[in-house]
Amino acid sequence: MAKIKSEFRCSECGWTTYKWVGQCGECQGWDTLTESTSAPKEVKAARISNNQIARPITQIPEDAQGHRPTGVSEFDRVLGGGLVAGATILLSGEPGVGKSTLLLEVAARLAKTGSKVLYVSAEESAGQVRLRAQRTNALVDTLYLASETDLSAVLGQFAAVQPDLVIVDSVQTVSSAEIDGAAGMPAQVREVASNLIRLAKANSVPLMLVGHVTKDGSIAGPRVLEHLVDVVCHFEGDRQTSLRFIRTLKNRFGPTDEVGCFEMTSEGISEVPDPSQLFVSGSQNLVSGSCITVTVEGRRSLIAEIQALVVKTNSPQPRRVTNGVDSSRVAMLLAVLERRAGISLMDKDVYVSTVGGMKITEPAADLAIAIALASAVTDKPVPHGTAAFGEISLSGEIRGVTNGKQRANEASRLGHKTIIDSSSSQLKAAIRLAIG
Ligand SMILES: Nc1ncnc2c1ncn2[C@@H]1O[C@H](COP(=O)(O)OP(=O)(O)OP(=O)(O)O)[C@@H](O)[C@H]1O
Ligand SMILES: [Mg+2]
Repeated sequence: MAKIKSEFRCSECGWTTYKWVGQCGECQGWDTLTESTSAPKEVKAARISNNQIARPITQIPEDAQGHRPTGVSEFDRVLGGGLVAGATILLSGEPGVGKSTLLLEVAARLAKTGSKVLYVSAEESAGQVRLRAQRTNALVDTLYLASETDLSAVLGQFAAVQPDLVIVDSVQTVSSAEIDGAAGMPAQVREVASNLIRLAKANSVPLMLVGHVTKDGSIAGPRVLEHLVDVVCHFEGDRQTSLRFIRTLKNRFGPTDEVGCFEMTSEGISEVPDPSQLFVSGSQNLVSGSCITVTVEGRRSLIAEIQALVVKTNSPQPRRVTNGVDSSRVAMLLAVLERRAGISLMDKDVYVSTVGGMKITEPAADLAIAIALASAVTDKPVPHGTAAFGEISLSGEIRGVTNGKQRANEASRLGHKTIIDSSSSQLKAAIRLAIG
């Protein structure tokens, strides 16, 4: 027999709880809760018609829909080939990173192939979006623009235009009159997203939603938003540089370890199919304190340059300044250099930086940082065509890193003939190999 449960309901606002409390959690009224007991309702099994009954998986026809390329190849690479009919993609990112610019580019490229695209902007007027389109060469007849903030109006625009792709910028600024509360509230975001997703699935039309992020970088609104959509992409980049990356955090139809590379320019957004060239200074002169390394972002290996500068100081607390690399990692490498390679930097200010605003968090860059420091302090440059990667342990040993072969291939593709890695097992030997 079903267990009878006590429920406490606020006589003022209807808030309910299963535990008695003196103050209402909603309207904050005192002593307004009254107890009622209700037996949980039993759910009866529904009748299922013959063609609805579950079938063996082998008898279910395959979903023939494949990926349809958008024409923006770096975005297609991240999506696993392109858009899937009826699938919803959520694109999140910091304010001003270029979400609207990217989606307008995707819309225009698809529209140029003859597809009808509906771009609903709830943040900007249609005139503002047209101005951007003019700047980024995205004026196409089959790209339809609407500026709407009401969900039913967005649904109406869909019915009127009958597009092949819908873009809603952003899900946090559209609201439904059926739900109390302002746009962006969790209940509103859930309602708006679930209605749009239902519409996309019912019509087999791909849907792209822009999502805001909170201060800590996670997607604003209820967590359920990420569960509702098929693909979650994050658009990121440093404000100081024009380089942008797209990563997938979830993908029901493709891999999640791909990275797309873009550059923001005054003409809009352009794809960077070979980003390795961007993170090296390209200087022809041999300068001490610089070493090339190879990092891996998702499935992609990138060449990066580490630069180090050491300056003599009389300060009892020498400066350790880093840019693009982890400062505690550099402090550890300075200690290892002193104890295991006999290179002391106790009386020197140390500056370590990457080129082009690249951020390196993986320990694979240890060896290049150590070689750049050794090169800076001895004033012996690392010859052109040398690249180094490997993790350095506290004992001064060089450990192998993941994707070693891929890194070596990328380095040699860009003309680096000498690769220094874990095959030189000790740091001292690796430094000798690099700078003699
Ligand atoms: N006239 C211009 N020339 C060059 N770059 C521009 C110009 N106008 C805008 N930008 C670039 O575009 C970026 C804004 O892009 P966009 O509006 O697509 O960002 P967003 O992520 O959609 O921002 P929001 O979250 O505010 O909607 C700016 O940060 C700037 O770098
Ligand atoms: Mg925008």
